[in-house]
Amino acid sequence: MKVLFIGGSGFISTAVSRLALSRGIELFWLNRGQRKADVPGVQRLVADIHQPDEARRALDGQRFDVVVDWIAFTEDDIERDLALFRGRVAQFFFISSASAYQKPPRFPVITESTPLYNPVWKYSQDKIACELRLLRAYRDEGFPVTIVRPSLTYEPNFPIAIGGWDSYTLIDRIKTGRPIIVHGDGSSLWVVTHSADFARGFVGLFGNEQAIGQAFHITSDEVLTWNQIYELIGEAAGAQPRMVHIASDFIVRVAPSQTGNLLGDKAWSTIFDNTKIKTFVPDFHASIPFREGIRRTLAWFDADDSRRRIDAAVNAEMDHILTAYGERLG
Ligand SMILES: NC(=O)c1ccc[n+]([C@@H]2O[C@H](COP(=O)([O-])OP(=O)(O)OC[C@H]3O[C@@H](n4cnc5c(N)ncnc54)[C@H](OP(=O)(O)O)[C@@H]3O)[C@@H](O)[C@H]2O)c1
Repeated sequence: MKVLFIGGSGFISTAVSRLALSRGIELFWLNRGQRKADVPGVQRLVADIHQPDEARRALDGQRFDVVVDWIAFTEDDIERDLALFRGRVAQFFFISSASAYQKPPRFPVITESTPLYNPVWKYSQDKIACELRLLRAYRDEGFPVTIVRPSLTYEPNFPIAIGGWDSYTLIDRIKTGRPIIVHGDGSSLWVVTHSADFARGFVGLFGNEQAIGQAFHITSDEVLTWNQIYELIGEAAGAQPRMVHIASDFIVRVAPSQTGNLLGDKAWSTIFDNTKIKTFVPDFHASIPFREGIRRTLAWFDADDSRRRIDAAVNAEMDHILTAYGERLG
């Protein structure tokens, strides 16, 4: 099977790339070649997808069984993809987001039939618009789309709500005894999924004609409270986290940039029913519990000093919220 990833060296797509290659898939990446990623066996097409001529040149004459666009966020991105791949692909994957599901949820168990409606987060609204455009292309012209909606998926990034999911900032705070923010009272329910688990469900959909025109989420079945998530992170980091519980309403008042992330997503209890992906990919089940997965993530950071980047802006925002709340920082 010949597969193209637009992106490929990203947080989720690297794990998916490794699994695809291990299953004998002929894998191509189209990206700018800026991101460091050690994935032997992948064939690289270097182009900026936002430069249509560059992308067309890189793809010249190629046909693929599967194309996955990992970095489509707007309807314009989808129009570009339709123009690039119409008639040249047997199955096109759009990576949406589980944040597109109804917020606040009227029913806490999410299936693929849960309405797509997020009045708060522009990112999710744009993903919904992308889905609708692709489904129209499927209905009107038979464009072979499969939609996948990841929820919070981790390694090598961290599955956290506040504290910099793509850096070592939160771990550094925990290890040095500084306070971290937990939204609400930490008792709302959430699901985090290891990227290697996600990969097994995802690659299982490649070449599956029955999946065309369909949408899926792919998550762990392990349901945790946010308190448990931060406690397990602390356990893996070898230090007790100093958790400060702050109402989401207060957080977004003093840090409006958190509005979509919290009120449009992580402030609400969410449980995923994974029956559909297990039906289409019978050998899929998420097998990595968070206690184990987060240890692997920390080991990844510990293996190379340059990975333990501290994000000053994230620290400043956390300190700003904590100070406004009246918490001492030291
Ligand atoms: N992680 C989660 O919890 C989560 C949850 C819901 C949805 N999602 C969705 O998952 C997707 C992200 O996947 P990911 O984590 O694998 O990606 P990512 O970490 O954002 O990686 C971005 C990839 O795209 C490439 N890239 C960036 N700009 C480019 C450009 N202009 N032209 C060509 N290539 C470019 C990068 O390589 P170069 O920089 O070298 O070009 C890299 O390979 C998004 O659609 C996101 O909405 C993620």
